[in-house]
Amino acid sequence: MSGIESLSEQALADIDAAPSAEALESLRVALLGKSGSITAQLKSLGALPADQRKTAGEAINRVRDAVGAALSARRAALEDAELDARLAGESIDVTLPGRDPGRGGIHPVSRTLQRMADIFGRLGYDLADGPEIEDDWHNFEALNFPPHHPARAMHDTFYFPPDGRGIARLLRTHTSGVQVRYMRDALAGGNGLPLRMIALGKVYRSDSDQTHSPMFHQCEGLLVDEHSTFADLKGTLAEFVRAFFERDFEMRFRPSYFPFVEPGAEVDIAWQRPDGSTRWLEVLGCGMVHPNVLRAVGIDPERYTGFAFGMGVERLAMLRYGVDDLRAFFDNDLRFLKQFA
Ligand code: FA5
Ligand code: MG
Repeated sequence: MSGIESLSEQALADIDAAPSAEALESLRVALLGKSGSITAQLKSLGALPADQRKTAGEAINRVRDAVGAALSARRAALEDAELDARLAGESIDVTLPGRDPGRGGIHPVSRTLQRMADIFGRLGYDLADGPEIEDDWHNFEALNFPPHHPARAMHDTFYFPPDGRGIARLLRTHTSGVQVRYMRDALAGGNGLPLRMIALGKVYRSDSDQTHSPMFHQCEGLLVDEHSTFADLKGTLAEFVRAFFERDFEMRFRPSYFPFVEPGAEVDIAWQRPDGSTRWLEVLGCGMVHPNVLRAVGIDPERYTGFAFGMGVERLAMLRYGVDDLRAFFDNDLRFLKQFA
């Protein structure tokens, strides 16, 4: 009898001290399993004399029940402790300061485009656009560049392989094709003339150095009316430059050739470089719309005249922000971009 009492005492103490669910399970097997010590005691009852069997049996059953109850209690306690530990690990300290996700800013080129749209919008120009994948007719031919015309060589064009129908497609080299689209649509739509539009967008040329990038943006402008003159063009561009820079910049018109205007000019702006030297930077091409272009879209050049211009958006952004390498706009270096945020 004292054997079963000390077995019971030891078992209850071990159960209380079991450090984990696995340790507890090993204990259960060692006590109550098929070859467990309490099971062995039960099995040995048969060997006892009949008069001792009843009391011994009762004692062992009591111990078995007590051990069973202790095992369940300890298991519940271990599970509670494990849950508490997990909850404590997952809890969030709401008093910690937040992490700053880093606010983005508008890209300086996007800002410049927006600024141009605003300024011309105030001057009554409609916003138009056209496809970046253009056909030869809109990009060149309707603009009075016949096939094999030497002026085509001034645009280092990216061509696509000809498609099944023999249509030559290219990445537009300037936004001037939108002039053609806009005039055709305006006439077809019945609310034709006079008209005023600007078109902003990406253009592509195989070109790269400090003031040239293979993809850049242009802002095209077009006005067609009965009595428009070169003086109106000059006045419009001067007004734009004043509004855009909000300060005086020396500006010069230099005669130049584009097949789709006559006469044509380029405008340069005096650029103070960071080293103190001055250089003229060409910012746009312009001129009076060539009669052949008006004719190509069905406008009578005897009655109507027009002017057009195409600005280099990054060039104007360089001047406005004092950036001396145009390619910096496309390197996506955050140290550069953050200065505009
Ligand atoms: C043209 O593209 C004409 N379509 C402009 C025009 C429109 C003339 C309407 C007359 C009437 P040009 O190739 O010069 O012209 O380009 C116009 C402007 O785009 C240039 O003055 C310059 O500011 C800018 N530019 C030209 N090539 C690049 C380049 N690779 N990278 C960045 N800016 C450029
Ligand atoms: Mg030029």
